[in-house]
Amino acid sequence: MPIIYKSRRDIEMMRRCGAVAHAILAKMRQAAAPGVRTIELDELAREEMKRAGARSMSLNYPTYVPGEGYPRYTCISINEQVVHGIPGQRKLVEGDTVTLDVAISLDGYCCDTAITIGIGQVNPRVRRLLDVTRQTLELALGQIRPGRKWSDIARLMQHNVERAGYSMVREFVGHGIGRSMHEDPKVPNFVTPEQLRGDFRLAPGMTLAVEPMVAMGRREVRLLPDKWTAVTQDGLPAAHFEHTIAVTEEGVDVLTDGHVPATAQTA
Ligand code: MF3
Ligand code: CO
Ligand code: CO
Repeated sequence: MPIIYKSRRDIEMMRRCGAVAHAILAKMRQAAAPGVRTIELDELAREEMKRAGARSMSLNYPTYVPGEGYPRYTCISINEQVVHGIPGQRKLVEGDTVTLDVAISLDGYCCDTAITIGIGQVNPRVRRLLDVTRQTLELALGQIRPGRKWSDIARLMQHNVERAGYSMVREFVGHGIGRSMHEDPKVPNFVTPEQLRGDFRLAPGMTLAVEPMVAMGRREVRLLPDKWTAVTQDGLPAAHFEHTIAVTEEGVDVLTDGHVPATAQTA
């Protein structure tokens, strides 16, 4: 499929969506504490989506099994769970790390954003994993400008992670995003011959979800029997940060950081 370029208006619509997703993540983060069940955070997100008039893009997301889509409103992944954890009855405990991933649409435009947070005091070694993963996303966003090859940025991300002694998970990649949650191009966080075949140059009007997934130990993952939750095979923790961005003439415009210019709110 071709890359779908967005107009200024499309991008402002995605920013509004992004502001709602940012606010939902903030509420979930505030509520996340020892003793809280992950389903309670998902219910909170469901209520906030309803209040904002937004729709979950995760709910009913299709699998290869017809009629068995993703069952909840957000993805919540704990410790060694990398992505696509299903909210449920599990209670958070002090020292856990929790990835909150919110993908929604508002007025026909999608956005997708994730953070990994610590519950109470976390081991300093785990805190560093979270910091390096967030910095790897920031590093990538700071490199975005028209004409740049994505693979050059992916290489920097991979090297940043490996220099810290961690590994980049390779089973999942970022993606174009717009009226659909997942559009072309693929936006990998690493460089392989296969990914290089799909390489592209950044250009104004592209909107992308950039989302490094970093494992503290080895990068191999497996799926739990629920067929959704991806966990590290070695059981060591992983972290995941994601922003939806637009490429502009000047560089990058982050659409999920909650900054909405006053003029855009009433446009
Ligand atoms: N938020 C995920 C992403 O970053 C997609 C979630 S789809 C689901 O691309 F079905 F797993 F929820
Ligand atoms: Co996401
Ligand atoms: Co995504």
